[in-house]
Amino acid sequence: MLDVHLDDQDIARHLRADVATGLTAPAKWLPPKWFYDARGSELFEEITRLPEYYPTRTERAILAGRAADVAALTDAKTLVELGSGSSEKTRLLLDALLRHGTLGAFAPLDVSEAALREAVAGLTADYPDLDVRGVVGDMTRHLQHIPDGDNRVVAFLGGTIGNLVPAERATFLRDLRAVLGEGEWLLLGTDLVKDPAIVVPAYDDAAGVTADFNRNVLRVINSRLGADFDVDAYDHVALWDARNEWIEMRLRARTAQRVTIPELGLTVDYAEGEEMRTEISAKFRRDGLAAELAAAGFALREWWTDPQGWFAVSLAQAVTAG
Ligand code: SAH
Ligand code: AVI
Repeated sequence: MLDVHLDDQDIARHLRADVATGLTAPAKWLPPKWFYDARGSELFEEITRLPEYYPTRTERAILAGRAADVAALTDAKTLVELGSGSSEKTRLLLDALLRHGTLGAFAPLDVSEAALREAVAGLTADYPDLDVRGVVGDMTRHLQHIPDGDNRVVAFLGGTIGNLVPAERATFLRDLRAVLGEGEWLLLGTDLVKDPAIVVPAYDDAAGVTADFNRNVLRVINSRLGADFDVDAYDHVALWDARNEWIEMRLRARTAQRVTIPELGLTVDYAEGEEMRTEISAKFRRDGLAAELAAAGFALREWWTDPQGWFAVSLAQAVTAG
């Protein structure tokens, strides 16, 4: 079953607003959530299988080792997952929570209806006794639509929280805390600060899949807003920003470009070599994350990492803020 809170019109309205803001700014930018149409979601799945892209397999290994602990510590009755995508790693949690005997419902939420439909169909077939309820929505706007229940665990995996800029992250964590009751849980996956020689290739793979994923945002704007981006005229750029401790993905116009976006009555010019930010992917440290969680009303209870300390899965509990 699928609850749809984002239809084509709603998506087009929000995309128009984001494109109007981002492409008329002095330094052009676009929010990363627009990568994920059906093709973008498929490209992301392809990224997760690349040899350079360590986050998915590292997080999966941590979850494999700790899923039983999550079940024992939380006694979760409902598992919610934000930015769920294929929910592939989440099956480790579902299996552990079902073995533990408490779980009754699973609610994955994603902005990509195509990815969610496919995931929900597979999960419904494979977990016939579980109430699987997909929510098509934007986690920055639709948290009120996650199912009620007591003893919920909200999983937010993959390091996707790092794709929000710090101010958005703080707002998101506060909004999430506001829809949870005291004692409910957040299971959060975060990529950690490490040698840029490991991080940069994960965002600039030899096969060029990440480059294709990056350019997909231009295809989405073309198809949803009738724009005429020449998608192949932009080079993929992945930079390590040492001060902010994040990867920044950009698209760089190879030659001067003029783009028209009829639905906005907008013409946008790119100079030769001009770069536009399309994503940040922040990397975290334990103390900083614990402080951000505390500021939003979550107490960090567990911090699990892989032996190399590349990725962390943390379990935090909603407490009284302040
Ligand atoms: N959790 C999965 C997928 C990560 S990819 C994993 O760990 O592999 C990021 C996912 O978040 C995509 O499926 C994308 O569609 C979704 N997403 C991105 N921004 C979103 C938003 N604002 N609201 C809901 N989902 C979002
Ligand atoms: C979804 N998110 C955590 C990915 C990341 O690593 O920041 C998106 C991605 N961008 C480039 N490759 C993968």
